[in-house]
Amino acid sequence: MKNFRSDFPVFETHPNLIYLDSTASALKPRIVIEETSRFSVESYANIHRGAYPLSEAAEIVYDRSKKRVANFIGANSPAEIVYTYNATYALNYLAGSMRRSGWIGRGDKILVSLAEHHANVVPWQMLAEEVGATVEFVRLDESYDLDFADFERKYDDSVRVVALAHVSNVTGKIFSLERLSAMLRDDTYLVVDASQSAPGAFLDVQMLDADFAFFTGHKMFAETGLGVLWGREDLLREMRPAFGWGGAINWVSEDGYESAGLPYRHEPGTPHIQGAASIDSAIRYIESIGGRETINEIKNGLVAHALRRLEEFPHPIDLLGPRGVEGRVGILSHSIPDVHIADLAEYLGERDICVRAGLHCAEPLARWRDVRGTVRASLGIYNTIEDIDRFYDAMIDGITALRR
Ligand SMILES: Cc1ncc(COP(=O)(O)O)c(C=O)c1O
Repeated sequence: MKNFRSDFPVFETHPNLIYLDSTASALKPRIVIEETSRFSVESYANIHRGAYPLSEAAEIVYDRSKKRVANFIGANSPAEIVYTYNATYALNYLAGSMRRSGWIGRGDKILVSLAEHHANVVPWQMLAEEVGATVEFVRLDESYDLDFADFERKYDDSVRVVALAHVSNVTGKIFSLERLSAMLRDDTYLVVDASQSAPGAFLDVQMLDADFAFFTGHKMFAETGLGVLWGREDLLREMRPAFGWGGAINWVSEDGYESAGLPYRHEPGTPHIQGAASIDSAIRYIESIGGRETINEIKNGLVAHALRRLEEFPHPIDLLGPRGVEGRVGILSHSIPDVHIADLAEYLGERDICVRAGLHCAEPLARWRDVRGTVRASLGIYNTIEDIDRFYDAMIDGITALRR
């Protein structure tokens, strides 16, 4: 089975590390670290302001990264790519801009699903509070996909926004968003939280027929502090910026101001220029290893092995998510009734096994499943079959040692 562990220098300083927390943040490949730091040494200066070669060199990299991101997600043009600080910021920015643009008002409805990360819930709840709208949750079916009957019940004329994750960060389920987007009226904005699909290199905003999508660079090998908001060009043009200052402005006078062109009007202040360089090399890295196909192949091998281990697991355990390798990414969330999961995660951590225990910022999903939390192992291209075995062996020992 393919494996790219040797591309990740962290394993040179931590040779025993079993990193199963890629859903929270991906480790950084050598090439991204080196290229980003070379950019800082050779080409860094502020952009869009300097008429000197260093600033122009930085600007070339910044603009190139926009093109790369646009291609990577099937956008029509780099003008549709707005850099933010992370996914959370991207959605807060979008919600704020929608409010300023008057796109959502009193009596309107925003639909999200029970599986959303809080980053795709709370900004909508805050917006709803401010304008007198409501937020409703679409339920899931037993396969952890969207419950389409429930969606149809809730999708009435008052719905302005449908905001859904492409992939659940708890169950790993890839939602049937193409089916859903075919059901939407023209007066509904489809906003896609692509935080867990962009890293798998299968976000295609045209195929989803979305209006907006957002994700975060650090989950796909880029630096922290760089998020992406994609929007259809006509909508980004029409939408009023949530904030204003500095570089997002064409002119300012005592009487007012004029916002700059796209996408800069939505990028107030100095952007994360090194972050842009890092996502440029992160995408080149993903493409160099074979992109979606390779990531999927590795995921399938690891998940199939994990599912076999779970079949013979000697303690009570439940997997929150699909039981097969298809229609999912490599996220495995385990509900374990016999132990305090925080203690178990600590037990694993002491053995160099990095997992997450808790609600994973998706509390409505845990409530629906009536679990107090799960131990989440999320897989990356640096994981091996031995990692999976060491993880489940340590889980068995840990549960035996910590059982209540
Ligand atoms: C589905 C999903 N949405 C949003 C986020 C938030 O990402 P960030 O913390 O980079 O803003 C996460 C992070 O775990 C996520 O998994």
